[in-house]
Amino acid sequence: MKTIQDFARYRASGDAIVMVTCYDAWSARLIEASEIDCILVGDSAAMVMHGHDSTLPATIELMAEHIAAVRRGAPEKLTIGDFPFLAHRQGTPHAVAAAECLMKAGAQAVKIEGVRGHEDVIGSLVEGGVPVMGHLGLTPQSVHQLGGFRVQARDERAAAALLHDARSLQQLGCFAVVLEAVPSPVARTVTEALAIPTIGIGAGPHTSGQVLVLHDLLGLDEGFQPRFVRRYLQGHELIRQALDRYAEDVRTHEFPNDEESYHDTVPAHGRGVATASR
Ligand code: KIV
Repeated sequence: MKTIQDFARYRASGDAIVMVTCYDAWSARLIEASEIDCILVGDSAAMVMHGHDSTLPATIELMAEHIAAVRRGAPEKLTIGDFPFLAHRQGTPHAVAAAECLMKAGAQAVKIEGVRGHEDVIGSLVEGGVPVMGHLGLTPQSVHQLGGFRVQARDERAAAALLHDARSLQQLGCFAVVLEAVPSPVARTVTEALAIPTIGIGAGPHTSGQVLVLHDLLGLDEGFQPRFVRRYLQGHELIRQALDRYAEDVRTHEFPNDEESYHDTVPAHGRGVATASR
């Protein structure tokens, strides 16, 4: 099991931190068996799993459900749970209760978007023993304020503000910072300025690590192909082919065959129950 102390070690050694976002037990089981370092249970669940057009509908209860499912699937991977929209903007007691809920569901750390105006909340959580990962650049919970999912920190002033915010997060005790959708040179400057690691998504190659949503790197959504995603599988095509083969086999009575059918009569005293289960 990796811990947040490993993040500091990776930062010192220069080894890249590999993070993947996932939301459920079966995909977590795939990640558990892989070389991925850690899992983010992101509030992008609202979009990827529930079909919303932003992350705003995610709630603490929804995040806790996804976190618990992921931990059941990947008990050995460090799991970071996302604070949903406004959960950190309703005062420290509310944020503490939210962190309690996410961590009791199985998260070992939480991720919080932004810093300005909720410095005290981040500081209190860290002091209370909650490891906090920051998130700057494109902060999807602010999509309406930002005017869409756009690349951030494109001019000097915005880049300087980003660096300032990243330093604040470090000062407040965050163990890492996600940099989303910022120009590569800006991410490099921030990474070089911080002692804690940066995790990039759409932030170029100079961050301390990278994060992608599992569904994106597996190419599960045919229509979603932003510049920053590299597809390691054409998942949508492979899955569509498999589903079409299944449909064809059912229609031609090729499925199920003899071996896929039970031949004995009604099981006596529960005989056959175990074989019928998964
Ligand atoms: O919600 C999420 O998956 C995220 C990552 C994309 C960084 O915040």
